[in-house]
Amino acid sequence: MSFTTSETSPINKDAKDFMPINGTDYVELYVSNAKQAAHYYKSAFGFQSLAYSGLETGNRESESYVVVQDKIRLVLTSPLKSGTVIGKHIDAHGDGVKVTALWVDDATYAYEEAIKRGAESYMEPRVEKDEFGQVVRSGIHTYGEVVHIFVERKDYKGVFLPGYQAWKTDYNPETIGLKFVDHMVGNVHLGRMNHWVEFYEKVMGFKQIMSFDDKDISTEYTALMSKVMSNGNGRIKFPINEPAPGLKKSQVDEYLDFYEGEGVQHIAVATDNIIQTVTDLKNRGVDFLQVPTTYYDVLEERVGKIDEDIDSLRELGILVDRDDEGYLLQIFTKTIQARPTMFFEIIQRKGATSFGKGNFKALFEAIEREQALRGTL
Ligand code: FE2
Repeated sequence: MSFTTSETSPINKDAKDFMPINGTDYVELYVSNAKQAAHYYKSAFGFQSLAYSGLETGNRESESYVVVQDKIRLVLTSPLKSGTVIGKHIDAHGDGVKVTALWVDDATYAYEEAIKRGAESYMEPRVEKDEFGQVVRSGIHTYGEVVHIFVERKDYKGVFLPGYQAWKTDYNPETIGLKFVDHMVGNVHLGRMNHWVEFYEKVMGFKQIMSFDDKDISTEYTALMSKVMSNGNGRIKFPINEPAPGLKKSQVDEYLDFYEGEGVQHIAVATDNIIQTVTDLKNRGVDFLQVPTTYYDVLEERVGKIDEDIDSLRELGILVDRDDEGYLLQIFTKTIQARPTMFFEIIQRKGATSFGKGNFKALFEAIEREQALRGTL
Protein backbone atom coordinates (compact mmCIF):
# COMPACT_ATOMS: atom_id res chain seq x y z
CA MET A 1 0.00 0.00 0.00
CA SER A 2 1.31 3.46 -0.80
CA PHE A 3 0.43 6.49 1.28
CA THR A 4 0.30 9.54 -0.97
CA THR A 5 -2.14 12.14 0.28
CA SER A 6 -3.29 14.05 -2.73
CA GLU A 7 -3.40 13.00 -6.32
CA THR A 8 -4.88 16.25 -7.54
CA SER A 9 -2.41 18.82 -6.26
CA PRO A 10 -0.25 20.82 -8.61
CA ILE A 11 3.48 20.32 -8.36
CA ASN A 12 4.78 23.32 -6.47
CA LYS A 13 7.94 23.99 -8.47
CA ASP A 14 9.06 26.88 -6.28
CA ALA A 15 9.27 24.79 -3.13
CA LYS A 16 12.79 23.72 -2.26
CA ASP A 17 12.35 20.01 -1.80
CA PHE A 18 15.37 19.31 0.35
CA MET A 19 13.02 17.18 2.41
CA PRO A 20 11.00 14.97 0.06
CA ILE A 21 7.75 13.82 1.71
CA ASN A 22 5.80 10.95 0.18
CA GLY A 23 2.57 11.71 2.01
CA THR A 24 0.82 11.65 5.38
CA ASP A 25 1.86 8.46 7.18
CA TYR A 26 -0.60 8.65 10.08
CA VAL A 27 -2.39 11.10 12.34
CA GLU A 28 -2.32 10.36 16.07
CA LEU A 29 -4.96 11.75 18.39
CA TYR A 30 -4.66 11.73 22.18
CA VAL A 31 -8.16 10.90 23.40
CA SER A 32 -9.68 10.08 26.75
CA ASN A 33 -11.02 6.69 25.68
CA ALA A 34 -9.19 5.17 22.71
CA LYS A 35 -11.30 2.03 22.66
CA GLN A 36 -14.55 3.96 22.35
CA ALA A 37 -13.07 6.51 19.93
CA ALA A 38 -11.96 3.66 17.65
CA HIS A 39 -15.50 2.29 17.69
CA TYR A 40 -16.81 5.74 16.68
CA TYR A 41 -14.38 6.09 13.77
CA LYS A 42 -15.32 2.61 12.57
CA SER A 43 -19.07 2.93 13.03
CA ALA A 44 -19.54 6.53 11.95
CA PHE A 45 -16.65 7.19 9.54
CA GLY A 46 -16.16 3.73 8.03
CA PHE A 47 -12.59 3.14 9.21
CA GLN A 48 -11.31 -0.44 9.49
CA SER A 49 -9.47 -2.09 12.37
CA LEU A 50 -5.74 -2.23 11.66
CA ALA A 51 -3.47 -2.48 14.69
CA TYR A 52 -3.34 -2.38 18.47
CA SER A 53 -0.79 -1.60 21.17
CA GLY A 54 -1.45 -1.95 24.90
CA LEU A 55 -1.05 -4.27 27.87
CA GLU A 56 -1.31 -7.37 25.65
CA THR A 57 1.64 -6.18 23.54
CA GLY A 58 3.76 -5.24 26.54
CA ASN A 59 2.87 -1.53 26.52
CA ARG A 60 2.08 -0.66 30.15
CA GLU A 61 1.90 3.13 29.65
CA SER A 62 -0.76 3.65 27.02
CA GLU A 63 -3.18 1.95 24.70
CA SER A 64 -3.48 2.71 20.98
CA TYR A 65 -5.99 1.57 18.39
CA VAL A 66 -5.08 2.14 14.74
CA VAL A 67 -7.85 2.40 12.15
CA VAL A 68 -7.44 2.70 8.40
CA GLN A 69 -9.45 3.73 5.35
CA ASP A 70 -7.68 3.62 2.00
CA LYS A 71 -4.60 5.84 2.57
CA ILE A 72 -5.74 7.39 5.87
CA ARG A 73 -4.45 5.96 9.15
CA LEU A 74 -5.64 7.30 12.50
CA VAL A 75 -3.97 6.31 15.76
CA LEU A 76 -6.15 6.78 18.85
CA THR A 77 -4.16 6.78 22.08
CA SER A 78 -5.13 6.92 25.76
CA PRO A 79 -3.00 6.61 28.91
CA LEU A 80 -3.31 3.56 31.18
CA LYS A 81 -2.50 5.43 34.38
CA SER A 82 -2.45 8.91 35.88
CA GLY A 83 0.30 11.51 35.62
CA THR A 84 1.44 10.68 32.07
CA VAL A 85 2.44 13.10 29.32
CA ILE A 86 -0.53 11.86 27.31
CA GLY A 87 -2.88 12.35 30.24
CA LYS A 88 -1.66 15.89 30.80
CA HIS A 89 -2.18 16.64 27.12
CA ILE A 90 -5.77 15.41 27.35
CA ASP A 91 -6.33 17.36 30.57
CA ALA A 92 -5.12 20.56 28.88
CA HIS A 93 -6.67 20.18 25.44
CA GLY A 94 -9.39 17.56 25.53
CA ASP A 95 -9.27 15.09 22.64
CA GLY A 96 -7.07 16.36 19.81
CA VAL A 97 -4.30 15.76 17.30
CA LYS A 98 -0.84 15.24 18.79
CA VAL A 99 1.07 13.85 15.80
CA THR A 100 0.99 14.52 12.09
CA ALA A 101 3.33 11.82 10.82
CA LEU A 102 5.04 12.34 7.48
CA TRP A 103 6.19 9.45 5.32
CA VAL A 104 9.79 10.00 4.17
CA ASP A 105 12.52 7.86 2.58
CA ASP A 106 15.11 8.83 5.19
CA ALA A 107 13.91 9.85 8.66
CA THR A 108 17.44 10.56 9.90
CA TYR A 109 18.19 12.92 7.01
CA ALA A 110 14.80 14.66 7.35
CA TYR A 111 15.40 15.19 11.06
CA GLU A 112 18.96 16.46 10.62
CA GLU A 113 17.93 18.87 7.86
CA ALA A 114 15.02 20.20 9.93
CA ILE A 115 17.17 20.65 13.05
CA LYS A 116 19.89 22.35 11.02
CA ARG A 117 17.26 24.80 9.76
CA GLY A 118 16.00 25.65 13.24
CA ALA A 119 13.43 23.00 14.23
CA GLU A 120 13.06 22.05 17.88
CA SER A 121 13.68 18.34 18.50
CA TYR A 122 10.84 16.13 19.74
CA MET A 123 12.43 12.73 19.13
CA GLU A 124 15.91 11.93 17.88
CA PRO A 125 16.07 9.33 15.11
CA ARG A 126 15.42 5.89 16.56
CA VAL A 127 15.35 2.47 14.96
CA GLU A 128 12.36 0.36 16.00
CA LYS A 129 12.45 -3.36 15.18
CA ASP A 130 10.33 -6.48 15.37
CA GLU A 131 10.07 -9.73 13.40
CA PHE A 132 8.64 -7.82 10.40
CA GLY A 133 11.64 -5.55 9.94
CA GLN A 134 12.54 -2.08 11.07
CA VAL A 135 11.19 1.46 11.00
CA VAL A 136 13.16 4.63 11.65
CA ARG A 137 11.25 7.49 13.27
CA SER A 138 12.27 10.99 14.35
CA GLY A 139 10.27 14.05 15.31
CA ILE A 140 10.14 17.84 15.57
CA HIS A 141 7.80 20.31 17.24
CA THR A 142 5.42 22.59 15.35
CA TYR A 143 2.69 24.99 16.62
CA GLY A 144 1.15 24.40 20.06
CA GLU A 145 1.92 20.89 21.32
CA VAL A 146 1.59 19.35 17.86
CA VAL A 147 4.57 17.42 16.50
CA HIS A 148 5.64 16.08 13.12
CA ILE A 149 7.10 12.58 13.19
CA PHE A 150 9.11 11.47 10.18
CA VAL A 151 8.50 7.80 9.38
CA GLU A 152 10.89 5.73 7.25
CA ARG A 153 9.28 2.36 6.60
CA LYS A 154 10.98 0.97 3.49
CA ASP A 155 12.40 -1.95 5.50
CA TYR A 156 9.16 -2.84 7.25
CA LYS A 157 6.48 -5.41 6.35
CA GLY A 158 4.41 -5.38 9.53
CA VAL A 159 0.83 -4.17 9.86
CA PHE A 160 1.70 -0.69 11.24
CA LEU A 161 4.79 -0.10 13.40
CA PRO A 162 6.96 -2.32 15.62
CA GLY A 163 5.21 -2.72 18.97
CA TYR A 164 1.80 -3.06 17.37
CA GLN A 165 -0.06 -6.28 16.62
CA ALA A 166 -2.77 -6.79 14.03
CA TRP A 167 -6.19 -5.85 15.40
CA LYS A 168 -8.64 -8.54 14.33
CA THR A 169 -12.32 -8.22 15.11
CA ASP A 170 -15.65 -9.50 13.82
CA TYR A 171 -17.11 -5.98 13.85
CA ASN A 172 -16.15 -4.40 10.53
CA PRO A 173 -18.61 -1.77 9.26
CA GLU A 174 -18.25 -0.93 5.58
CA THR A 175 -16.00 1.88 4.40
CA ILE A 176 -17.64 5.09 3.16
CA GLY A 177 -15.18 6.09 0.44
CA LEU A 178 -12.68 8.26 2.32
CA LYS A 179 -9.40 8.09 0.39
CA PHE A 180 -6.59 10.30 1.66
CA VAL A 181 -5.83 13.35 3.80
CA ASP A 182 -6.24 16.38 1.50
CA HIS A 183 -5.08 19.00 4.01
CA MET A 184 -4.82 19.65 7.75
CA VAL A 185 -5.49 23.09 9.20
CA GLY A 186 -3.80 24.63 12.25
CA ASN A 187 -5.22 27.41 14.42
CA VAL A 188 -2.59 29.70 15.94
CA HIS A 189 -2.71 32.80 18.13
CA LEU A 190 -3.19 36.32 16.79
CA GLY A 191 0.08 37.53 15.30
CA ARG A 192 1.60 34.04 15.03
CA MET A 193 0.49 32.98 11.54
CA ASN A 194 3.50 34.49 9.79
CA HIS A 195 5.85 32.90 12.30
CA TRP A 196 4.55 29.44 11.37
CA VAL A 197 4.50 30.30 7.67
CA GLU A 198 8.22 31.07 7.98
CA PHE A 199 8.76 27.87 9.97
CA TYR A 200 7.31 25.74 7.16
CA GLU A 201 9.29 27.70 4.56
CA LYS A 202 12.60 27.66 6.35
CA VAL A 203 12.57 24.38 8.25
CA MET A 204 10.54 22.19 5.91
CA GLY A 205 11.11 23.88 2.52
CA PHE A 206 7.37 24.42 2.00
CA LYS A 207 5.99 27.25 -0.10
CA GLN A 208 2.99 29.47 0.50
CA ILE A 209 0.47 28.66 -2.24
CA MET A 210 -2.49 30.77 -1.10
CA SER A 211 -3.45 33.46 1.34
CA PHE A 212 -6.73 34.85 2.62
CA ASP A 213 -7.12 37.99 4.67
CA ASP A 214 -9.98 39.28 6.76
CA LYS A 215 -11.60 40.79 3.65
CA ASP A 216 -11.92 37.30 2.16
CA ILE A 217 -12.91 35.59 5.38
CA SER A 218 -15.24 37.77 7.36
CA THR A 219 -18.87 38.00 8.28
CA GLU A 220 -20.71 40.73 10.11
CA TYR A 221 -19.17 39.48 13.37
CA THR A 222 -16.00 37.50 12.95
CA ALA A 223 -12.90 37.36 10.79
CA LEU A 224 -9.82 35.26 10.34
CA MET A 225 -6.68 35.20 8.23
CA SER A 226 -5.18 32.14 6.62
CA LYS A 227 -2.11 31.13 4.61
CA VAL A 228 -1.74 27.76 2.94
CA MET A 229 1.66 26.06 3.02
CA SER A 230 2.47 23.17 0.67
CA ASN A 231 5.42 20.88 0.19
CA GLY A 232 7.03 20.51 -3.23
CA ASN A 233 4.94 17.66 -4.61
CA GLY A 234 1.70 19.12 -3.18
CA ARG A 235 0.89 16.01 -1.15
CA ILE A 236 1.14 17.89 2.15
CA LYS A 237 -0.92 21.04 2.56
CA PHE A 238 -1.14 22.88 5.87
CA PRO A 239 -3.34 25.99 5.96
CA ILE A 240 -2.60 28.09 9.07
CA ASN A 241 -5.32 30.32 10.54
CA GLU A 242 -5.09 33.17 12.97
CA PRO A 243 -8.02 35.18 14.32
CA ALA A 244 -8.62 38.71 13.06
CA PRO A 245 -10.33 41.39 15.14
CA GLY A 246 -14.11 41.35 14.66
CA LEU A 247 -17.24 42.54 16.41
CA LYS A 248 -17.59 39.25 18.25
CA LYS A 249 -15.40 36.26 19.11
CA SER A 250 -14.17 34.46 15.99
CA GLN A 251 -14.29 30.70 15.58
CA VAL A 252 -10.49 30.62 15.84
CA ASP A 253 -10.67 32.44 19.19
CA GLU A 254 -13.28 29.96 20.37
CA TYR A 255 -10.98 27.10 19.37
CA LEU A 256 -7.94 28.64 21.08
CA ASP A 257 -9.97 29.21 24.27
CA PHE A 258 -11.39 25.70 24.45
CA TYR A 259 -8.29 23.87 23.21
CA GLU A 260 -6.30 26.05 25.61
CA GLY A 261 -3.70 26.67 22.95
CA GLU A 262 -2.80 26.26 19.32
CA GLY A 263 -3.67 23.03 17.54
CA VAL A 264 -5.19 21.21 14.59
CA GLN A 265 -8.57 22.68 13.71
CA HIS A 266 -9.70 20.30 10.99
CA ILE A 267 -8.62 17.32 8.95
CA ALA A 268 -9.90 17.40 5.37
CA VAL A 269 -10.38 13.96 3.85
CA ALA A 270 -10.98 13.32 0.16
CA THR A 271 -13.66 11.21 -1.49
CA ASP A 272 -14.48 10.44 -5.14
CA ASN A 273 -18.22 10.51 -4.47
CA ILE A 274 -19.18 13.10 -1.91
CA ILE A 275 -22.92 12.55 -2.29
CA GLN A 276 -22.61 8.87 -1.36
CA THR A 277 -20.01 9.50 1.36
CA VAL A 278 -22.06 12.23 3.06
CA THR A 279 -25.27 10.18 2.75
CA ASP A 280 -23.48 7.32 4.55
CA LEU A 281 -22.02 9.62 7.22
CA LYS A 282 -25.45 11.12 7.94
CA ASN A 283 -27.04 7.67 8.13
CA ARG A 284 -24.35 6.74 10.66
CA GLY A 285 -25.07 9.72 12.88
CA VAL A 286 -22.45 12.31 11.87
CA ASP A 287 -23.73 15.91 12.19
CA PHE A 288 -22.80 18.58 9.65
CA LEU A 289 -22.89 22.36 9.55
CA GLN A 290 -25.93 23.47 7.60
CA VAL A 291 -26.05 26.50 5.32
CA PRO A 292 -29.44 28.12 4.54
CA THR A 293 -31.23 26.52 1.57
CA THR A 294 -31.10 29.93 -0.17
CA TYR A 295 -27.40 29.11 -0.77
CA TYR A 296 -28.58 26.74 -3.50
CA ASP A 297 -30.90 29.23 -5.22
CA VAL A 298 -27.92 31.08 -6.69
CA LEU A 299 -25.46 28.17 -6.79
CA GLU A 300 -25.47 27.50 -10.51
CA GLU A 301 -25.22 31.23 -11.22
CA ARG A 302 -22.11 31.37 -9.04
CA VAL A 303 -20.25 28.18 -10.03
CA GLY A 304 -21.70 27.39 -13.46
CA LYS A 305 -22.57 23.93 -14.72
CA ILE A 306 -21.66 21.00 -12.46
CA ASP A 307 -22.15 17.23 -12.80
CA GLU A 308 -24.03 16.80 -9.53
CA ASP A 309 -27.76 17.13 -8.98
CA ILE A 310 -28.36 20.42 -7.09
CA ASP A 311 -31.33 18.95 -5.21
CA SER A 312 -29.12 16.22 -3.74
CA LEU A 313 -26.51 18.79 -2.74
CA ARG A 314 -29.20 20.95 -1.12
CA GLU A 315 -30.65 18.01 0.77
CA LEU A 316 -27.23 17.04 2.15
CA GLY A 317 -25.91 20.59 2.61
CA ILE A 318 -22.85 20.07 0.38
CA LEU A 319 -21.09 23.29 -0.70
CA VAL A 320 -19.55 24.00 -4.11
CA ASP A 321 -16.86 26.42 -5.24
CA ARG A 322 -14.98 27.00 -8.48
CA ASP A 323 -11.49 28.25 -9.28
CA ASP A 324 -9.51 28.60 -12.52
CA GLU A 325 -8.81 24.87 -12.68
CA GLY A 326 -12.19 23.37 -11.91
CA TYR A 327 -14.57 23.03 -9.01
CA LEU A 328 -14.74 21.34 -5.64
CA LEU A 329 -17.46 20.05 -3.35
CA GLN A 330 -17.05 20.24 0.41
CA ILE A 331 -18.90 19.91 3.70
CA PHE A 332 -17.87 20.32 7.33
CA THR A 333 -18.88 18.18 10.29
CA LYS A 334 -19.79 19.79 13.56
CA THR A 335 -17.04 19.49 16.17
CA ILE A 336 -16.57 15.82 17.10
CA GLN A 337 -15.55 15.79 20.76
CA ALA A 338 -16.70 17.32 24.04
CA ARG A 339 -14.93 20.63 23.46
CA PRO A 340 -15.89 22.80 20.44
CA THR A 341 -12.48 22.33 18.82
CA MET A 342 -11.66 19.84 16.06
CA PHE A 343 -13.87 18.83 13.15
CA PHE A 344 -13.59 17.06 9.79
CA GLU A 345 -14.05 18.34 6.26
CA ILE A 346 -15.15 16.01 3.47
CA ILE A 347 -13.89 17.23 0.10
CA GLN A 348 -14.21 16.11 -3.51
CA ARG A 349 -11.99 17.90 -5.99
CA LYS A 350 -13.03 18.09 -9.63
CA GLY A 351 -10.00 19.96 -10.92
CA ALA A 352 -10.04 22.74 -8.32
CA THR A 353 -6.88 23.04 -6.23
CA SER A 354 -8.15 25.78 -3.91
CA PHE A 355 -10.00 25.59 -0.58
CA GLY A 356 -13.51 26.91 -1.14
CA LYS A 357 -13.07 30.67 -0.69
CA GLY A 358 -16.51 31.30 -2.23
CA ASN A 359 -18.07 29.32 0.63
CA PHE A 360 -16.32 31.03 3.51
CA LYS A 361 -19.07 33.56 4.24
CA ALA A 362 -21.98 31.08 4.23
CA LEU A 363 -19.87 28.63 6.19
CA PHE A 364 -18.75 31.03 8.88
CA GLU A 365 -22.29 32.27 9.34
CA ALA A 366 -23.26 28.62 9.92
CA ILE A 367 -20.43 28.30 12.47
CA GLU A 368 -21.59 31.49 14.19
CA ARG A 369 -25.08 30.04 14.58
CA GLU A 370 -23.47 27.07 16.38
CA GLN A 371 -21.33 29.43 18.48
CA ALA A 372 -24.43 31.43 19.44
CA LEU A 373 -26.08 28.20 20.67
CA ARG A 374 -22.98 27.50 22.78
CA GLY A 375 -22.91 31.06 24.11
CA THR A 376 -19.37 31.53 22.76
CA LEU A 377 -19.94 34.08 19.96
FE1 FE2 B 1 -10.31 22.86 4.81
